[in-house]
Amino acid sequence: MRTPQPSHSILGAEPRRSSCRLCGKGLRLAVDFGRMPLANAFLTREQFASEVFFNLSAGFCEPCSLFQLLEQPKPEQMFHGGYPFFTGSSEGMRRHFSELASRIRKDFLPDGGFITDLGSNDGTFLKNFPQEQYKRLGIEPSANVASAAQAQGIETEISFFDIKISKRIRQQKGGADVFAGTNVLCHIPDLAGTLHAVAHLLNPEGVAIFEDPYLGEVLAKTSYDQIYDEHVYLFSVTALVRACESQGLRLFDAELIWTHGGSLRYSICKKDSKRMESPRVRQFLDSEKKSGMLDFSRYEQFREQCEHSRDLLIETLTALKAQRKRVAGYAATSKSTTVLNYCGITPDLVTFISDTTPEKQGKFTPGTHIPVLPYEHFKSNYPTHALLFAWNHTEEIYAKEEAFVQSGGRWITYVPKVKVS
Ligand code: TMP
Ligand code: ZN
Repeated sequence: MRTPQPSHSILGAEPRRSSCRLCGKGLRLAVDFGRMPLANAFLTREQFASEVFFNLSAGFCEPCSLFQLLEQPKPEQMFHGGYPFFTGSSEGMRRHFSELASRIRKDFLPDGGFITDLGSNDGTFLKNFPQEQYKRLGIEPSANVASAAQAQGIETEISFFDIKISKRIRQQKGGADVFAGTNVLCHIPDLAGTLHAVAHLLNPEGVAIFEDPYLGEVLAKTSYDQIYDEHVYLFSVTALVRACESQGLRLFDAELIWTHGGSLRYSICKKDSKRMESPRVRQFLDSEKKSGMLDFSRYEQFREQCEHSRDLLIETLTALKAQRKRVAGYAATSKSTTVLNYCGITPDLVTFISDTTPEKQGKFTPGTHIPVLPYEHFKSNYPTHALLFAWNHTEEIYAKEEAFVQSGGRWITYVPKVKVS
């Protein structure tokens, strides 16, 4: 069913790795999704001919328990002036950030304290820390989203984060009481260097709080669409504990949260901090060991689950096409790029994708060239079936789209299992 595609690498992409980014030992190939464009490179018809690709595959380092991409495009190609993702675009995410901010203010940030947010995007999160009460600083390499934050009075350093920037911030503003980073640490290839820079910026009792998609959830739900260019790592608690230890830091808490289809919120302090370790850390470590997540064989099993999911989804879409049904995609998420390209979903199977982000509308999906149309088009031209790419927002979307279902519309989902409901 899938046409084999020639390998076609992005100029300047890091060469395919055979060794772990953290410990240098050999990586074992877990999954190979083949030729892949950048997840967020929505493009115009004129750009089809110059589209660039890389090989999307991931490996596992058994000594570090670290799941990582084998090849990653240069960060500058992914996070730039045209980056189309705005954190503030989902109601659920806005609520989530406001809840995280309340927790930080209550537990970790004194009045007058200093908070930095790595990957601060359009400032949605930092807005929750009034500037009369706190010192706040965003760090964000994508200029367009960073400018949106600056326009709202949120001081933002437009740059990637490393030890040089960390030293400069410390010199100019002092040490940080809280270092936040949601959906960012798993994007940065130099994990050791970033943790080193975090350790440098933190005050002795300062806390770093990160959120990233959780490997355990990806395995349990076969949500292989979390694997795309930006996610160079999918973390387990075991891997994070080891990575922190290597940089004089200590992971003292971890919890599972709903965002991005199942993420880990984890808290880190300096090695010698007085903070107590939450019993949750040990529970995660035990359950990861028990579930086989630390053994390579679990990743071979995951590969088979991905292939099975792909085959079922294509079968379902092909059958619907034969019945002359009209299938549209719902939300042109980054995740959808992996699904569309890995499964080989062409515009004859999914005729358009509805999306609320103006920067994506009127463009085409990376690699598969399915038109992305405004949400209003979906509302006024209900398809017979909607393939839900923003499955991590299922509740919000099902509630919003009752009229679609009442008009006879059906949802197609593929996480955790391919299903038409
Ligand atoms: P994400 O938060 O899962 O990455 O989703 C990002 C994209 O999904 C973004 O382009 C907006 C789009 N989207 C919709 O079009 N409708 C929706 O109801 C939601 C939640 C997202
Ligand atoms: Zn390693």
